[in-house]
Amino acid sequence: MNTERHVHHSWAEPYKIKMVELLRMTTREEREQAIREAGYNTFLIRSRDVYIDLLTDSGTSAMSDRQWSGLMMGDEAYSGSENFYHLQDAVREYYGYKYLVPTHQGRGAEHLMSRIMIKPGDHVPGNMYFTTTRLHQELSGGTFVDVIVDEAHEPESTQPFKGNVDMAKLDKLVQEVGAERIPYISLEGCVNMAGGQPFSMANLRELNAYCREHGIPIMLDATRTIENAWFIRQREDGYSTRSVRGILREICDLTDGCTMSAKKDLLVNIGGFFCCNDEELFLKAQNMVVIYEGLHTYGGLAGRDMEAMALGLREAVMEEHQSARIGQVHYLGQKLLDAGVPIVMPMGSHAIFIDAKAFLPHLDQDAYPAQTLAAELYLDAGIRCMERGNVSAGRDPETGKNRRPALELVRLTLPRRVYTQAHMDVVAESVYNVYKRRHEIQGLKMTYEPEYLRFFQARFEPV
Ligand SMILES: Cc1ncc(COP(=O)(O)O)c(C=O)c1O
Repeated sequence: MNTERHVHHSWAEPYKIKMVELLRMTTREEREQAIREAGYNTFLIRSRDVYIDLLTDSGTSAMSDRQWSGLMMGDEAYSGSENFYHLQDAVREYYGYKYLVPTHQGRGAEHLMSRIMIKPGDHVPGNMYFTTTRLHQELSGGTFVDVIVDEAHEPESTQPFKGNVDMAKLDKLVQEVGAERIPYISLEGCVNMAGGQPFSMANLRELNAYCREHGIPIMLDATRTIENAWFIRQREDGYSTRSVRGILREICDLTDGCTMSAKKDLLVNIGGFFCCNDEELFLKAQNMVVIYEGLHTYGGLAGRDMEAMALGLREAVMEEHQSARIGQVHYLGQKLLDAGVPIVMPMGSHAIFIDAKAFLPHLDQDAYPAQTLAAELYLDAGIRCMERGNVSAGRDPETGKNRRPALELVRLTLPRRVYTQAHMDVVAESVYNVYKRRHEIQGLKMTYEPEYLRFFQARFEPV
């Protein structure tokens, strides 16, 4: 029996539009004023002044009619909300972890996990840092150690699994500090800071065997793991006929727990969770959550938010959803490639990352090329994106100097189910416009620097 629903080559959306949100167009003068007032930081622009918003894929997805109906089924009891049990069932079904603690978003879960698992002086290896993840590790007295493969730091490398852990780097750390000073390894799917790069199942299997031998838990940053599962299906031998949900489950079965920002994969505007299989760890997380988030059956969320997450998870594992989601990202990327714009390859799942060092080679990294380019893109046509480079990387706590990471990127991030193919055409045209006059673009200097996660609130001026 042929069970395939439709065989077609396009990534066309598996939904139709029922409601629309009107966009506001601005003039160049209005945008000049807006970016000046925002201190040349796209995070500080009012959303009403943005035409196409590619700042982030976090919490910006369009929910389905089923999810919106789910909101009406919110059980807003303080304790034991029915929606918590729906979420727990869905998480157990698709991710397979035994225990769930909801949190208001991803960093809430990172906070809990870091507080209960890290002791001062510990080392936490990870396949590249993520801003909030590393900060919570540091605030708990840990030191993050990057163990991602070298290719992840090379925008032009086309290795299909640039999110892989370099086992030699991990082993070197274990030999140096001892497994007992490593509370867990943090493994992220579709590694955000590397350009949305997946890890392979082969790499995870090897990691699992190594960690079992050394007694090191593997904690997944599950934020974009369903998208990672899609890439395993597309790119890894032996997986082309496997379902996304089957691959997702295989990933989770090789790990010990996770933190989750549900605002990405799970198609909701707010939400997150911590999961694990170890009862003792769960009891600690469950106890900690009541201090910082809320009772362990709502963790800072309304009942209706948990319902939307449970329903979103069921839609996120659908093949046709991932095909359209990632298809749209790659459609935009191909347009930029065709125009000669330097982007990180291979293209990832949630965004196209422009290589700002290659785009603006005349700017020193301390003139913040990626921050500069993000501001220029906004000025050109009101498209908002974000910096992922020297500003995001912050300062080295030892030297106090800018970290000057190898990757200096601008992220054009696609919300799920929100924009059309024609919007992608406009974005590509605008990037190309800026590319044509790239030699005229001057850098920025930082005029205000907040202590934590400076990229969110820092202010700049043209040099
Ligand atoms: C990989 C990754 N981990 C963690 C987080 C933090 O999640 P949240 O923004 O929900 O706090 C994010 C989102 O920005 C992320 O992309």
